[in-house]
This record gives sequence, C-alpha cells and structure tokens, in this order.
Amino acid sequence: MNADLKILGKSEVKIPSIGMGTWGIGGWAAPDTSRDNEAIEAMQRGIQLGMWLIDTAEIYGRGYSEELVGKAIRDFARDQVFIVSKVDTNHLKYDDLIQACQRSLYRLRTEYIDLYLVHSPNYRIPLKETMNGMEELVKREMVRFIGVSNFPLNLMKEAQSYLNITNIQANQVKYNLKCRYDETDLLPYCQKEGITLMAYTPLEEGSLALNQILKDVGKEYGKTAAQMALNWLICQENVVTIPKAINSKHLDENAEAMGWRMAKQDFEKLSAAFA
Ligand SMILES: NC(=O)c1ccc[n+]([C@@H]2O[C@H](COP(=O)([O-])OP(=O)(O)OC[C@H]3O[C@@H](n4cnc5c(N)ncnc54)[C@H](OP(=O)(O)O)[C@@H]3O)[C@@H](O)[C@H]2O)c1
Repeated sequence: MNADLKILGKSEVKIPSIGMGTWGIGGWAAPDTSRDNEAIEAMQRGIQLGMWLIDTAEIYGRGYSEELVGKAIRDFARDQVFIVSKVDTNHLKYDDLIQACQRSLYRLRTEYIDLYLVHSPNYRIPLKETMNGMEELVKREMVRFIGVSNFPLNLMKEAQSYLNITNIQANQVKYNLKCRYDETDLLPYCQKEGITLMAYTPLEEGSLALNQILKDVGKEYGKTAAQMALNWLICQENVVTIPKAINSKHLDENAEAMGWRMAKQDFEKLSAAFA
C-alpha cells in the first residue's frame, strides 16, 4: 500500500492524498445497474492500492452510487476507509438535511460518514440554518467532519461563522492544471487556515491524460501524463484529489501518482505552461 497521507483540515485525522471519485459509478442522473460488479471491484482495488478515501453524493445515480460504495466497503474494517458524501443543494433546510443524511447512511450501510459536505450553495435557504443542521449531525455522531463544496471564499467564511463546536474541514472544488480560478484567493486561504482543498475533476475528465507537455515532463520521472497532473495537485499544501476511474489500468496509474513529488522547477514549469 502506497502511504501518502495528509491531515484533514484542522483535525488530527490523516487521509490519502489521492482518493477516488464516483460520479458516474452507479449512474449519472439516474441509477445504472449495468456495471455493478466492475464498479465494486474497481473501488475495492483502489482501496487496496491506498486510495481509501471514496467521494460520493446522494445525487450520484440518485443514491445508487452510495449503495455501490456501501457494497464495496463491506469487506473492509470501517476504519480502513474514509467515506465522503454530500447533501444535495435541495435538501439544505434543517429537517431535510438530517433526513438526507439518514438516507445516505442507510444506502452506505454505515453508522457514520467520515466527511459530509454541502454539495453546493443554495441562496434561497439561510446558510445559518444549513450549518446548524450540519453541526447537529456531528452532535448525533452521524458524521465525523463537515465541509462544503463549490463554495467561493466569502461564502465559506460565512458558513464557518455559523459553527460553534466544529470547523469546516474541507472545500471540494474543481481544480486542475487547466482550471485555476481558486488559486487567487480560496487556495491561499485554505492553506493559511488549515482547510483541505479537495480537488475534483483533476484530470479534466481524462483529457489531461493525453496532454503532450505532461507526457514530456513525465518522461524524466518514468510517469504518465495523468500521474503528472495528479502529482501537480498533491505537490501543493492542503490539496488532496479524487480522480474517478473504473478501469483497472487507470486505478493502478492513479495510485502510482502518490508516494513521490516532482521537482519544484517542474512544478513551476507546468504551472506556467497551463496558466
Ligand atoms: N463536488 C462537485 O460538485 C463535484 C463535481 C464533479 C466531480 N466531483 C467528484 O470528483 C470526482 C472526479 O471528477 P470527474 O469524475 O468529474 O473527472 P476526472 O476524475 O477528472 O476524470 C474521470 C475520467 O477520467 C478517466 N481516467 C481516470 N484515470 C485516468 C487515467 N489514469 N488515465 C486516463 N484517463 C483516466 C476516467 O475513466 P474510467 O472511469 O473509464 O477509468 C473518467 O472517464 C467525481 O467522480 C466526483 O466524485 C465533485
């Protein structure tokens, strides 16, 4: 197993620098049962390769992704995996949020979710009410840690201001070599304040795996373009990432993007090449 761990937010808990995404596993907007075995085997393989953080959400496959995650993890001790799930933006009223989490726990067949995120902001529902609900889940031990996703800096700060007994431990946002909006303010703030930035769509849906610049720089390390793109993310303080892969070759490749770091000059070269 490839131990490349980072601290989650201000907690004392360590998580893998590279975990696994599940958007499309068990369906997209609706459940898809056609690749169940392949999906479960892929997640189990990923866990064994060290990518034992799995990111899912109640909306993925309308809950079916969570069911498959539940099946994939049942052969492992609960503390050998770290489960991230997200409450849908339409369930951010206090009672809706508690019930949404209960349903996710049922589908995941687990007693707690390790990290529970507000999937995206809903400006029609008071954020204070949502964050009170999130904190209640921690009090009830239904979730260990909480965070947000797709929150710009100011809104993340506002969300934090409503919390009394806990902190926002992570903000999950789109971040990759081609998508760099959050470098200006969100990332430096997360690094200063001890919040994990969980980078989604790290391969720009696979397209970075074909990039020639990444291939060229990767040759010096014996690494592929995809591995360089993932390593560029985890080179950065407080950044972890969650590529999605069902293909076993992709899983093996992604796991091998951990356990080493490219040289600073190559990190800077890639940062500039894609700026
Ligand atoms: N919070 C949010 O709003 C939000 C939004 C989007 C995504 N996410 C999360 O982030 C995860 C990752 O993002 P994503 O799924 O959008 O995109 P991604 O991880 O950048 O790309 C996934 C695609 O890349 C392919 N791939 C994976 N590893 C590869 C490799 N080593 N070489 C070549 N191709 C490879 C996969 O193919 P195979 O599957 O065929 O292996 C899949 O087609 C999601 O699954 C989800 O959990 C969160």
